[in-house]
Amino acid sequence: MNDDTGDRTWLITGGCGFIGTPLIGKILDDQPMTLVRVLDNLSVGTREDLKRVVEESGSERVELIEGDVRDAVVCLRAAEKADIVVHLAANTGVGPSVEDPIADMEANVRGTLKKTSIRLWVSLHGVN
Ligand SMILES: NC(=O)c1ccc[n+]([C@@H]2O[C@H](COP(=O)([O-])OP(=O)(O)OC[C@H]3O[C@@H](n4cnc5c(N)ncnc54)[C@H](O)[C@@H]3O)[C@@H](O)[C@H]2O)c1
Repeated sequence: MNDDTGDRTWLITGGCGFIGTPLIGKILDDQPMTLVRVLDNLSVGTREDLKRVVEESGSERVELIEGDVRDAVVCLRAAEKADIVVHLAANTGVGPSVEDPIADMEANVRGTLKKTSIRLWVSLHGVN
């Protein structure tokens, strides 16, 4: 714990998931002035999972964008004014990756690439 109140904006993709929710709880506990924006398509994580961690922290500084990291427009909107991006969105199930490896690749590789290139675009063009 430090005395940094964290007056900044985090974007956490996949923030409703197993790793994302406790991470958000930790950020909100440590940095009360932080705004946490979550981009999640709710394929695995749920609104309730996020709501639980937000209620535990007592913070109202969390916003959920329900959307997909493969959607460039949504990514751009989500990245607006973000100081820090944590990219956790992924198809993590082993079974689905065997059943449909193309869909897995789309989400895990192309989604990540899209996120990275949008972040680069935002930095270069000074949107935030
Ligand atoms: N859980 C672990 O032990 C562990 C260990 C090492 C690395 N990781 C990595 O951390 C990341 C998160 O893992 P997790 O365990 O929290 O997984 P998780 O499945 O619990 O969470 C992933 C979240 O991403 C969302 N999501 C999936 N596809 C999406 C898409 N196309 N667009 C937007 N949101 C999408 C899901 O709804 C879910 O909320 C993954 O990259 C995983 O490989 C996890």
